[in-house]
Amino acid sequence: MTDRVLQRLRDLEPLLWINPKLGPVGQAEVPVSPAQVLQAEDNWRALAPLLQRCFPELAQSGGVIASDLIEVDTLARAMDAGAVGRFFVKGDHALPVAGSVKARGGIYEVCLHGLSLARALGLIGPDDGPEALADGAVQARFADYTIAVGSTGNLGLSVGLAARGLGFRAVVHMSSDAKAWKVARLRQHGVEVVQHPADYGKAVAAARAAAAADPSIYFVDDERSELLFFGYAAAAAELRDQLQARQIPVDADHPLFLYLPCGIGGAPGGVAYGLKQVFGDHAHCFFVEPAQSPCALVQLAAGLEQVVTVYDVGLTNKTEADGMAVAEVSQFVAAVMQPLLSGVYTVRDTDLFRWLALAQEHAALQLEPSAAACLGGPAMIYNSAEGQRYLAEQGLAQKTEQACHVMWATGGSLVPASEYQGFLDKGRQLLNSDH
Ligand SMILES: Cc1ncc(COP(=O)(O)O)c(C=O)c1O
Repeated sequence: MTDRVLQRLRDLEPLLWINPKLGPVGQAEVPVSPAQVLQAEDNWRALAPLLQRCFPELAQSGGVIASDLIEVDTLARAMDAGAVGRFFVKGDHALPVAGSVKARGGIYEVCLHGLSLARALGLIGPDDGPEALADGAVQARFADYTIAVGSTGNLGLSVGLAARGLGFRAVVHMSSDAKAWKVARLRQHGVEVVQHPADYGKAVAAARAAAAADPSIYFVDDERSELLFFGYAAAAAELRDQLQARQIPVDADHPLFLYLPCGIGGAPGGVAYGLKQVFGDHAHCFFVEPAQSPCALVQLAAGLEQVVTVYDVGLTNKTEADGMAVAEVSQFVAAVMQPLLSGVYTVRDTDLFRWLALAQEHAALQLEPSAAACLGGPAMIYNSAEGQRYLAEQGLAQKTEQACHVMWATGGSLVPASEYQGFLDKGRQLLNSDH
């Protein structure tokens, strides 16, 4: 990492870091394979009848967990994105069951674990599909088994609710960043919550240790899980279909820019890996992280030879973006993203609240602070020296009018009204004081 990047990180100055190790998708040496994305798409299709039966929210959608692609021109103009290209929000803030992108990973892993366990216990036959898990007798047996996870909040909601939906006992280890309403919602659904007065890494370590000591506990490992990763990765095909339906091309003349909020890295990493398989080098994936928690940025900028945390560079990991309050990125995700990620930009908490208010005003979107982070991406690309250099180096400087920008809004629709009103008031005050 250069001294200049380090100084800007320490000054909490929002910045765009371009990944010097980005290379062609075809030459990327990574510890996963494209076939795993296709397998995940098949698995999701097979899970739909089960999901439809176990989750009332999915009755209408036929068990499909998917989000809208929402065009947001007015919002993009309000965000000073430079009015060239087309601008969309991928509305994972409104995903059913969990209200966040975590629905894609958590529900997927819990269901696939349930399927393996039911087969191993002989509760279903080897040829029975996932729908057999909706059976009352199977779910009664699952009550003897526990699913545990460590979380800043949203993964806990997704895993906890999915586990309860299949009849499992569920234990969620929460970090001190977790919001009270997320804890309350889990408890309402019969999930046991252990609150740790510590950061996310310590909550995960506690959950991992508890599971290691008891074979009836299955641990969803947010730091290492390939199942979570590929559950997210299947979202790329959904976006491909949505762009095709709108006849929006993605090719050498029509670049696609993606802005993905990053905590431990599993959700943005999985989605980005899937997108690179679907769109190849025409997909330009950027992570976004809080100025106090840029864990992917510090790890990728320093190289992967040794673990680097945000504490190591003098930052606090204190942020209102609870889902992204992570000090050390997943080493698994860092290894996958090193040759595939275009860059990372950082954002101040105050801007998260401004953008959250603008998203409500100009697009009627209810976002939580973590999700609002995605909205700053286009302006970062167009208005920063690093962004301009990236466009020039990639041969895209003359193609911005044909570009498509997708901001991945990762959570927010389940935030209780009073809490959300507090976020909005804060954002509006900040916007008013700017004028
Ligand atoms: C709203 C929101 N956005 C983004 C993320 C980041 O996902 P990941 O931790 O997998 O990088 C999270 C994680 O909990 C989240 O809750």
